[in-house]
Amino acid sequence: MHELRDRDSILEIEKASIDHLTPLSLLSRYYGITPSGFLVAEIDGLVVGYVVGIIGTIRWKGEGYILAIAVDPSYRKKGIGTVLMTNIINRLKSRGAKRVYLEVKASNSAAQYFYSKLGFKEIGVEKGHYPDGEDALVMRRLPGE
Ligand SMILES: CC(C)(COP(=O)(O)OP(=O)(O)OC[C@H]1O[C@@H](n2cnc3c(N)ncnc32)[C@H](O)[C@@H]1OP(=O)(O)O)[C@@H](O)C(=O)NCCC(=O)NCCS
Repeated sequence: MHELRDRDSILEIEKASIDHLTPLSLLSRYYGITPSGFLVAEIDGLVVGYVVGIIGTIRWKGEGYILAIAVDPSYRKKGIGTVLMTNIINRLKSRGAKRVYLEVKASNSAAQYFYSKLGFKEIGVEKGHYPDGEDALVMRRLPGE
């Protein structure tokens, strides 16, 4: 697990998962602000997954957000997503996050199950949140969950 160094290598993973993700082209703006919020998982020198998390400031102090996570389709269901999430949550916590939030497409039941295993609970719905009009479920993880 290390911080993002090779942006191109994760674009391929994004392409395979783009239906569900905020584009890296957009997220890369955050990279200039908080490079420590970008983590990649590597196996034998190959980047197989990434996660992006940020921490709020001023009135959002104490709130962490997961902006994107994706694992290469051929490496899924091997625990890599869990390792990425655990690492980013710990990192956000160490930087002061008391709660961690994320949004997930209402139709992405695989990711919802994945997040619930990590202690996230659904706390609301954002109607028509995504550009295609789909609703987002808002999920939150409280300390100790
Ligand atoms: C969601 C995602 C990151 C999970 O990564 P992963 O490396 O496969 O996750 P893990 O192997 O750590 O899985 C953890 C748990 O979630 C379950 N899980 C993961 N993907 C699943 C799927 N497609 N269907 C059902 N369960 C799934 C695993 O079985 C495991 O549960 P278990 O311990 O009961 O077996 C990955 O499927 C992905 O990249 N999806 C496309 C992008 C995406 O949807 N991102 C989320 C946007 S909000």
